Amino acid sequence: RTITIHADKPGAAISHEMWGLFFEDINFGADGGLYAELVKNRCFSFPKPMTGWEKISPSKARGECSVMNHEPFSAVHPHFLRLTSQGGDVFGVANEGFRGIGVKAGEAYDLTLRLRCTSGTPALRVALYGENGLLLEQIKLEKLPSAWEERKAVLRPTATDAKSKLYILVDGVGTIDIDLVSLFPQNTWKGRPGGLRADMVQALADIKPGFLRFPGGCIVEGSELDKRYPWKATIAPVLERPLLINRWNYEFLHRPAPDYYQSFGLGFYEYFLLCEDIGAAPLPIINCGMACQFNSGELAPMNEIDRYVQDALDLVEFANGPVETEWGGKRAAMGHPAPFNLTMMGIGNEQWGPQYIERLTVFLKAFRAKYPKIRLIASTGPEPADERFKYLWPKLSALGVDIVDEHCYARPPWFFENAHRFDNYDRKGPKVLFGEYAAQSEKPVSPNNVNDLECALAEAAFMTGLERNADVVAMAAYAPLFAHREAWQWSPDLIWVDNLSLVRTPNYYVQQLFSTNRGDVVLPTKLSDAGDGRVFASAVRETKSGDVIVKIVHPGETVEFTTIALNGASAVLASTIVLSGENLAVHNSFEEPNAVVPRHAAVTASGNSVDVRLEPRSMTVLRIKTA
Ligand code: AHR
Repeated sequence: RTITIHADKPGAAISHEMWGLFFEDINFGADGGLYAELVKNRCFSFPKPMTGWEKISPSKARGECSVMNHEPFSAVHPHFLRLTSQGGDVFGVANEGFRGIGVKAGEAYDLTLRLRCTSGTPALRVALYGENGLLLEQIKLEKLPSAWEERKAVLRPTATDAKSKLYILVDGVGTIDIDLVSLFPQNTWKGRPGGLRADMVQALADIKPGFLRFPGGCIVEGSELDKRYPWKATIAPVLERPLLINRWNYEFLHRPAPDYYQSFGLGFYEYFLLCEDIGAAPLPIINCGMACQFNSGELAPMNEIDRYVQDALDLVEFANGPVETEWGGKRAAMGHPAPFNLTMMGIGNEQWGPQYIERLTVFLKAFRAKYPKIRLIASTGPEPADERFKYLWPKLSALGVDIVDEHCYARPPWFFENAHRFDNYDRKGPKVLFGEYAAQSEKPVSPNNVNDLECALAEAAFMTGLERNADVVAMAAYAPLFAHREAWQWSPDLIWVDNLSLVRTPNYYVQQLFSTNRGDVVLPTKLSDAGDGRVFASAVRETKSGDVIVKIVHPGETVEFTTIALNGASAVLASTIVLSGENLAVHNSFEEPNAVVPRHAAVTASGNSVDVRLEPRSMTVLRIKTA
């Protein structure tokens, strides 16, 4: 086989945004995940105020524990806990965290709590106990105030434990009111107090993503409109952000998550900051006046749609507006006077039907008048493979939307067979955001799907097609991004986490290999055996280094040899990065996180051809230094 690369006939430019990330608070992605708060239901504000908390009452303790809302510390979260001890033994409560509280030996954890003592002179003991009951750390708070006060302390556990609990115990006789019990690692991303989990953000940064789409997904829409994502409420001071049920808090795939709520500790300001930190262009998706069409499909009446449009316009001002403007001023007050450089926005997620077109038209008109440079992204419903949604394309094209968002969750063959999907797309119409996709090892929407090598190679083959068509495909992202191994609703996912560590899947490495070898110009590629479906390839040039980069996907079971013929360039040196595994079902796990990882090798190269050995079941990135 020969793969001919036409370096003499450079094609389309590849945008910096091409390979991005899709983030949604699904699978405990935000609360219990990226947002590093370790205490669940820290303000007792869940509908069942003791969710996450249990009473600790040793046999000799005499005490009462009640939820109150009389003269609260905070009007937004009025519930607090009253602990009354009549002595005998320490008495109190414990928080279970998000499927446990993960702590590391010797690391520092910031404890914050609000309290007041309304009778007696008790002390408060705060302790971390490990899963097996071992005391990991404790502190005593004495001389408690009679009026609400915020107290802070640092906990340093003596041992590592993935499933510790935080105990709040009354020592002595008396009554203590408690609210906002919060515990954060000091080791957050960039050391920001109350910030994001460092290892999870690092995994994102390592992809060098071109964009970050947030906050979803279905949570943008909500099951009903009053549960849609309220971006404005998420930029209030952190502890004044309201609590909202998560769209994934229902029995999906027989995996109920009755304790899944959104605290919005990770809100829109933090999303924009995250984008800035990891060099990703921000891509917010906004509700378009429609609730999730898989749920109620509730519609905002057209005479109320202006409110939704205004939310979207205000978001541009929040991200980009001068500090003198209302919403730009709010951004500045939060600590970021410089704009966040928002250039695009998605209007609705997985929406379809005439109701969508009607609402989208109003958004387009308002944006074209006020922010003509913002690129607007429209949805095509849930599945591009589904004929039902094809009718939307001509309508969206006629409306003049800039980019159309297509999604696909399908078995691996769909991705192999669709590697040429975009070859015949209209070059004059809207561009494509392939905004959610993942190969499903068993079937779409099944709890048995695994992030195996076959799925990763299927996605890689498909991505060669996205890359070759960079003139029409503007951006693409795998979905979903994160999953907590004990609290997920959807599988497969790009990165799996527990309370202490994470696992990068083969699919993660595929995304990373494309993104970190993005190049900036497509080079036409011709396979001598094109169309036999056994090998997939694409090539790019990276202008700053002059390198030619070829991606080759070979899902077959035998070693193959391929010659890369270079037209218009001469090779002086080459190297490969290969992702492969011992069988197609292999995947990474917490027990074996490195079963499938990229491996580097040098390749002999000179002149106009480079010979490459293709490992069985592999993706190969060949980087050629040219004269
Ligand atoms: O990625 C999981 C879900 O799949 C998203 O929330 C939704 O947009 C899609 O249906």
